[in-house]
Amino acid sequence: MSNLFRKKRVDDLLNNSGVQLNKTLGAFDLILLGVGAIVGTGIFILPGTVAASHSGPAIIFSFLIAALVCALAGMCYSEFSSSVPVTGSAYTYGYIVFGEIIAWFVGWALVLEYGLAAASVATGWSSYLVSLLEGFNITIPAALSGPFNPAEGTYINLPAIFIIMIISFLLSFGIQESAKINKIMVFVKVGVILLFIIVGAFYVKPENWQPFMPFGMEGIINGAALVFFAYLGFDAVSSAAEEVKNPQRNLPIGIIGSLLVCSFLYISVSLVMTGAAPYTQLNVNNPVSYVLQLVQQDWIAGIISLGAVTGMMTVILVMIYGGSRLLFALGRDGLLPKLMTKLSPKYQTPTINTWIFAFAVSFCAGFIPLDRLAELVNMGTLIAFTIVSLGVVYLRKNKNIPSGGFKVPFFPVLPILSFIACLFLISQLSMQTWIACGIWFIVGLVVYFIYGKKHSTLNNQ
Ligand code: ALA
Repeated sequence: MSNLFRKKRVDDLLNNSGVQLNKTLGAFDLILLGVGAIVGTGIFILPGTVAASHSGPAIIFSFLIAALVCALAGMCYSEFSSSVPVTGSAYTYGYIVFGEIIAWFVGWALVLEYGLAAASVATGWSSYLVSLLEGFNITIPAALSGPFNPAEGTYINLPAIFIIMIISFLLSFGIQESAKINKIMVFVKVGVILLFIIVGAFYVKPENWQPFMPFGMEGIINGAALVFFAYLGFDAVSSAAEEVKNPQRNLPIGIIGSLLVCSFLYISVSLVMTGAAPYTQLNVNNPVSYVLQLVQQDWIAGIISLGAVTGMMTVILVMIYGGSRLLFALGRDGLLPKLMTKLSPKYQTPTINTWIFAFAVSFCAGFIPLDRLAELVNMGTLIAFTIVSLGVVYLRKNKNIPSGGFKVPFFPVLPILSFIACLFLISQLSMQTWIACGIWFIVGLVVYFIYGKKHSTLNNQ
């Protein structure tokens, strides 16, 4: 039993004499990395679909609530990552404060988060690609560009599968997620979003904001549990911990800064979108460009679709990258087979695990609808957040933590609030999501007891 809760020692992690990564990233790089990882489907699709069916124009409050929850969790992440700047994010934090079985649980939840987030963004990417190609009179048949749903005449989402394969192909060739490429993509993405806000603002009719809360408070809260998805990815900033200059200062700025930038963008886009078109009309696959088409700005709608198609790729890339490196870490710690750590001799990347991951992700992207995927992603992430929030309370008690890092203010009130807020959002997710997630964790436990527990490298300690 005690084996289940064996922990990794902080000093071992910090004094790891293994490969040292170059410390090159500053605060601004981290904010760009964060915005690159965060802004994707969440802004290009969710403001429309969630406003239409859950929150109405009051979706801005849904975004605000989700931002607050993420800011609380983000502070907890900041404390962990600046105290223990090692890779592995929530999985490693779980290993330090709660022990192996909880770390495994978090790692397993994160595989779900990264995998399904990549799948969801790929389905969003596919919708924008279809609308972009339509602008050039090229039509991809609906049967081949939607999730498996014979009643609606859709069977498989081929463009989503295609983009996952392409990105995995690049990743397996060792495409370094170079700060430069990421920067360009982020500027394109933020550029088209600002373009939308500025052009759209001219078409806002305040009467479209009436009624403001058509689904009441309940709609706003349900909406918050869904748009929470839009903020995911900021934890990727903490994964870069080992490559950050002065991590104790820069990591908190990177995490909180990217959340602030994204909140501003999300709330502005939602205001303009629900102001320029009645919320009832926004339940479409490509609401940002759709709204501009409604007001006859077809050219700008086209530019935005192009920017969205480019910008969403960075999110898919970061998520597949994150997932494959997580499988690598689980393999290195002995919790998954060593196959997960096998590097391609030529490119020095974990090619096998990248492809295993890519096939699983493309299956989900090809056959499951976006809203189902997004809910499951939220569940996986919220579970990781609850553990990180509670973990901070225990982390403070650990005497081996170097001092001087970021500390969550109003300790222990804020971490506990963060924990409760995440549990609350979990409770708002649908029964189906609970069941699917339950099955995922039962499989995880079976894998742990059959394999991980016996092969964990901590057995040798
Ligand atoms: N936050 C990411 C997105 O919105 C997952 O696409």
